[in-house]
Amino acid sequence: MTIVVPIAWKDGAVEYLDQTKLPAAEVYRTTRDESEIAEAIKTLAIRGAPLIGIAAAYGIVLAMNRIRHVGRETVAMHFEQAHHLLATTRPTAVNLFWALDRMRQVFEQHRSDEIKRLCERLLKEAMAIHQEDAEMCERISEHGEKLLPAGATVLTHCNTGRLATGGRGTALGIIERAWELGALKNVYIAETRPLLQGARLTAWELARRGVPATLITDHTGAFLMQQGRINAVVVGADRIAANGDVANKVGTYSLAIAAHHHGIPFFVAAPSSSIDFETVRGSLIPIEERRVEEITTIAGTTIAPEHATAYAPAFDVTPYQLIAAIVTEHGVVQPPNAASLRSLRSAPSHRERVGVGT
Ligand code: MRU
Repeated sequence: MTIVVPIAWKDGAVEYLDQTKLPAAEVYRTTRDESEIAEAIKTLAIRGAPLIGIAAAYGIVLAMNRIRHVGRETVAMHFEQAHHLLATTRPTAVNLFWALDRMRQVFEQHRSDEIKRLCERLLKEAMAIHQEDAEMCERISEHGEKLLPAGATVLTHCNTGRLATGGRGTALGIIERAWELGALKNVYIAETRPLLQGARLTAWELARRGVPATLITDHTGAFLMQQGRINAVVVGADRIAANGDVANKVGTYSLAIAAHHHGIPFFVAAPSSSIDFETVRGSLIPIEERRVEEITTIAGTTIAPEHATAYAPAFDVTPYQLIAAIVTEHGVVQPPNAASLRSLRSAPSHRERVGVGT
């Protein structure tokens, strides 16, 4: 079984897997247009916090490549337009803004270079963001797997695997590694209403890898915990505030409350690019609201009365007190809080440790 690659730079274009079509069809699209990347992020054809950042970085490269032949005086304007377009796609995953900031730094350093050279530098940075994420996933899975008891049955929510990152995934990377080492018995996958990232994407990824998994509705998790059938909950993050509060797919918070009630460890796995030290607590994290049609319809069929009022936040915030540990590429932060997370601020970034040049 070939390993799924959700995004790749190929011959001056971006090839991406349209995740809205999974699991029915594996549709790859190729584009040289940053507006298509922006649209793909908005519609969740490209999704998952780290992957959104990677895609936005490539989007900047596409935008600048397209204007290679326009006058130098408009280069900065084109950069700002592309930056704005990509930065206004989704508000919660901080990886998007982190990756765009890195692209801006390279732009500022090389803005007086000839355009061809500037584009080469931007592409190099986008590829570094992509590659570093793959490496961060490896480290996260190594650190996180050790937290799971032998023969563990774990519960996960949403999709945090290869479809969501530049590598093997965060929470799902830990799960996959535990299975490779023979330390995992089963994974319960919450379906993840309303867009079904658990049912459509995680179940698909784990089946491709041959990892034993059982799909449940979003409300079955607490019942399984009550029955003693879950050893740990492992999820990802879209943004981690400076105090350790975690924004992740809506439904995460309820699982954390249930896990806390039953004394089951609740682990969050994310690269350091998901930590936002500027946001002091979770209540300040902007939470994306999706179109209500995403919950009033299923596969195009209306399931609520006409004019029913609906509310569709895409994420919720889990307070740090409910989280046993946050696993990043630097190691395990246990328990997470403002003081323990602060130590990561001075940790060398991945690029410094592997010596990626600018
Ligand atoms: O709306 P999505 O599908 O982009 O939400 C994704 C999640 O909530 C993931 O848990 C998170 O981005 C981490 S992915 C490694």
